Amino acid sequence: MNTIVGLDVGSTKICCLVGEVTEDEQLRIIGSGIVRSQGIKQGVVVDVEKVSESILAAVEKAEQISGYHIENAYVGVTGAHISSVNSRGRATINRNDHEITTDDVERALENAQAIAFPHNREIIHVIPRGFMVDGENGVRDPVGIHGYRLDVEAHIVTGAMTSLQNLEKCMTNAGIGVTDFILQPLASGEAVLRESEREMGVIMVDIGGGTTDIAVFINGSVWHTISLKVGGNHITNDIATGLQVPFSVAEDLKIRYGHALETAVDEDKTLDVVAFGDDSEQAVSRSDLVSVIYARVEEMFELILREVKRTGYDTLLPAGLVLCGGTASLSGIRALGQQTMDMPVRIGAPHDLEGLVDSLGSPAYATAVGLLQWGMRYADLPQGRSRRQEDGWWKRLGNWFNGAILPG
Ligand SMILES: Nc1ncnc2c1ncn2[C@@H]1O[C@H](COP(=O)(O)OP(=O)(O)OP(=O)(O)O)[C@@H](O)[C@H]1O
Ligand SMILES: [Mg+2]
Repeated sequence: MNTIVGLDVGSTKICCLVGEVTEDEQLRIIGSGIVRSQGIKQGVVVDVEKVSESILAAVEKAEQISGYHIENAYVGVTGAHISSVNSRGRATINRNDHEITTDDVERALENAQAIAFPHNREIIHVIPRGFMVDGENGVRDPVGIHGYRLDVEAHIVTGAMTSLQNLEKCMTNAGIGVTDFILQPLASGEAVLRESEREMGVIMVDIGGGTTDIAVFINGSVWHTISLKVGGNHITNDIATGLQVPFSVAEDLKIRYGHALETAVDEDKTLDVVAFGDDSEQAVSRSDLVSVIYARVEEMFELILREVKRTGYDTLLPAGLVLCGGTASLSGIRALGQQTMDMPVRIGAPHDLEGLVDSLGSPAYATAVGLLQWGMRYADLPQGRSRRQEDGWWKRLGNWFNGAILPG
């Protein structure tokens, strides 16, 4: 039995999940530790000590429940320091038989990485988007095909070395090794997307507390990834400022009475809240609350739309947008997304979970569950290129093609 650990270090919560892969390849959750996150701002570590403590607390809880001693974990990364680029690489096949091998694929992918990255960046993922053999497009698994020239289109994700080092330091302080860093929206995509959506073309959007993580999937593979510095905390901040209540009251109002659509409030209601410590009640209008939420969420969708248009892939996404992350639980957000983005929107959440599932089927746990699913699918495969420099790291690619990124 294989045990996998995933650690989602979010701006709002830190979630450590322990999963077992059963003999029939099912994932069974055997433990979870979820704690409030401290020291993370917009996806990045701003206080090493606090983050280390939070990680340790989440890990200890998950250990207690699962009875499993955690040594390593797949860790989700996000933040404005992440950037991604699509690049092409080539390998010439000079052998007599001209049959493409995993070595040739490795050479083509190495070649795709031979673009100038600033020295302070670290490669997190190198994901093939598609191959071309002798100029022939649309090859998914080139191994075994005969040809003279192999081209690969790769999606390369990099992060700021310092941000990754800080996160790794927190992990080390908590006594946990990093199996691999996984870009959070790629993990979330594992948990919430259907294979058919990835094939057709879909945008995965994870709106958490501090960040909005976006991944565009086309033809079954990832074509674009980005993290925006905006999330549910901004909605709460707007409520706090707009209605002049403390952040904690604003958060409570958002979750209990919030709605993304102004039209949902047909008749104004007054909500009484205890705003400041003196127990005196303050009246808040629900329609004011909803107006504030509407304005911010609409702006968030406009930002997402602008980002997707900027990529030029906006016409290649018939499956629309799949929304997850804690903010996806906001009432009316699906309808507002559909209206603003003018495309189908659905709320995605982890599904078909087995074991100690509790609330893990909610959109907020997409990344944490997705990290386990990622680990299950791509364990020991060369996603964390820079962390796996050992010889032959690419040799196992053969297995990878049988995975869902590039079904063979
Ligand atoms: N029912 C709800 N309605 C509106 N917002 C909600 C609801 N439930 C949770 N949220 C919001 O979701 C956000 C937290 O989402 P999530 O747990 O996905 O964040 P995170 O993963 O810790 O953060 P990030 O991914 O940005 O680093 C908070 O802003 C919270 O207010
Ligand atoms: Mg998150």
